Amino acid sequence: MKIKVAPSILASDFSAAGQTFARLEQSGADLAHCDVMDGNFVPPITFGAQFIQHIRPHTKLFLDCHLMTLHPETHIESFAAAGADLISVHTEVCGKRTGEVLRAIRALGVKAAAVVNPATPVTELFDWLGDVDMYLVMSVVPGWGGQKFIPESLKKLEELRAFCIKNGRPDLDIEVDGGVTEQNAGDIAAAGANVLVAGSTVFRSADMRATIEALRRA
Ligand code: DX5
Ligand code: ZN
Repeated sequence: MKIKVAPSILASDFSAAGQTFARLEQSGADLAHCDVMDGNFVPPITFGAQFIQHIRPHTKLFLDCHLMTLHPETHIESFAAAGADLISVHTEVCGKRTGEVLRAIRALGVKAAAVVNPATPVTELFDWLGDVDMYLVMSVVPGWGGQKFIPESLKKLEELRAFCIKNGRPDLDIEVDGGVTEQNAGDIAAAGANVLVAGSTVFRSADMRATIEALRRA
C-alpha cells in the first residue's frame, strides 16, 4: 500500500502555526495531524476548533483531527464547521456509542476514524468497520509527543489489517500514532499501517522533506 505521512503539529512551535502548515505543504506531507487534548481524557490541553478555523485558510493540507477529549460528540459540529477533513474519536470514551458518533461525523461531510489506546484491544474497533474511513492505533499512551514506540503495537496492526482484508476493506487506511521513526517505519508498514503519524521525527529533523520522504519509502 502507498504510505502516507502525517506530521503531528504537536511537536511544532504553535506561535508560528501559519508557517508550520506552509512548511509541511512544501515538504510533501500527505496530511497534517492535529492533536486536540482537553486536560481530562489526557492531562495536557492543546487547542480546539478555533485553532483549526484559523489555520484552514492558510493550508490545503488534509486536516486530520485527533480528538483526545471526553464527550467528543459535543465537539464534532464545531470541528466540521472549522474545516476539519477527518475527525477521530477514541473507543475508550465513546464505548457502545462509537458507531453513532462516527455516523454523526460523516453526516457532517467529514471523514471519521475510530481510535484505540495501547491498553485497549484492537478488537474494540471491529464493530465499526462500516462506519469508518480510517482506523487509528495508538502506539504510545496519548498525551505527549516524543515517547518510545510500544512494540506490541505491531501485533495489533497485523491483526487489524488481517481483519480489514477478511472483511472486504483491504485498502482501508490504518494510521499509527506515537514513536514513529525512520528506523521503525519499515516494520510498522510491514505490519499493516499505511498512515504514519510522526511528530518529533519530522519537526526535529534538519531536512523535513527528506525525513518525510524517508518515512514514505519505509
Ligand atoms: C500523542 C499524540 C501524537 C503525538 C506523536 O498523544 O496523539 O500524535 O504527537 O508524537 P511523536 O511522533 O513525537 O511520538
Ligand atoms: Zn495524535
